Amino acid sequence: MTSIHLIAAARPNFMKVAPLYHSLSKTGWANPVLVHTGQHYDHNMSDAILNDLKVPAPDFHLGVGSGSHAEQTGNVMIAYEKVCLEHRPDWIVVVGDVNSTAACAMVGAKLWIPVVHLEAGLRSRDRRMPEEINRLVTDAIADVLWTPSEDGDENLIAEGVPAERIDRIGNIMIDSFEMLRETIEASDAQQRLGLQAGNFGMVTLHRPSNVDAAESLEPIVAALESAAAELPIVFVAHPRTIKGLENFGLKDRLDAAQNITLLEPVPYVNFMSLVTGAKLVITDSGGLQEETTYLGIPCLTLRENTERPITVTMGTNELVTTDTLSDNLHRILAGDWKQGARPPLWDGRTAERAVVALQRRSKR
Ligand code: UD1
Repeated sequence: MTSIHLIAAARPNFMKVAPLYHSLSKTGWANPVLVHTGQHYDHNMSDAILNDLKVPAPDFHLGVGSGSHAEQTGNVMIAYEKVCLEHRPDWIVVVGDVNSTAACAMVGAKLWIPVVHLEAGLRSRDRRMPEEINRLVTDAIADVLWTPSEDGDENLIAEGVPAERIDRIGNIMIDSFEMLRETIEASDAQQRLGLQAGNFGMVTLHRPSNVDAAESLEPIVAALESAAAELPIVFVAHPRTIKGLENFGLKDRLDAAQNITLLEPVPYVNFMSLVTGAKLVITDSGGLQEETTYLGIPCLTLRENTERPITVTMGTNELVTTDTLSDNLHRILAGDWKQGARPPLWDGRTAERAVVALQRRSKR
């Protein structure tokens, strides 16, 4: 059996690893081994999502937790190297762009274990983002690069990556959504919050550039207060964001706001139920830019750039600032928003293509 380590670390990784885990499990030749680095450890940021996605408990749990970038990256490398030395896999699959992604890719590369990067080739060209550094490092050393869309291939080719290292397989997050679509549609998450489908805005924020300083977070809170005059707002806040809101004395303001419901992280099925019912989404998440494009829901991304430009050129996404948020929101409410289309290969069958691609390479 071909032993394949699937590395999961932080919330957005679980939705990418799960479909691959299930597809590999069905083959006669592959043994998927789930490695959880423990970068995210709160129940709703980790175990509850794995439960929703029907993935069994991880085979290895590295328990690294939080820390500075160097601490987190270093601790993952130290812990994962030990696992690899004792249980050497035939392949390592790392996903996304979190610190654990780059850390495990480096461990594999130095032990000469072939590494696959799932969600390769994305570039924001903003090196102030830790994720951009993780993407650059991981793509530079991974043996195989699985891209979600054509722009990923183009970025890699422009950086000198030989075409034979690239397999364009599509967007695997859509597989998770399609796998659980019925359960998501049956969820009563919207009703429990007293929300009416198509009549509320959904907000998520967690980027350091938005939430780590009062100067950036305060104007966002003010913009959300004025948005709430137009339609009910559900704000699902990341632990980092809750910390920022508390530290800068902004949490009480949101709690007191009439039309704003502030929630702690919500697991996958209920979260996606809220997304599917939203009239619009305001976010700085990478995954939500893609999910809203897939679902045809208008998305306002509070960032200066995106590593997922196809969601803007083809999909329903636009980049906004706190100054332009309100105008864009009014345009959406007036029905004046682009329709968008689903990018090629965002079809719920990405994991199948990944398995075929990996088996082909395993035979060489
Ligand atoms: C990480 C990723 C980011 C991804 C995000 C998704 C990096 C560099 N960043 O950012 O790309 O979009 O995850 O959520 O890898 N915390 C908890 N409970 C948890 C996890 C974190 O309370 O389960 C707190 C930590 O104490 C820390 C803060 O949240 O203060 C940030 O956590 P960290 O994992 O360092 O980065 P994220 O902001 O989550």
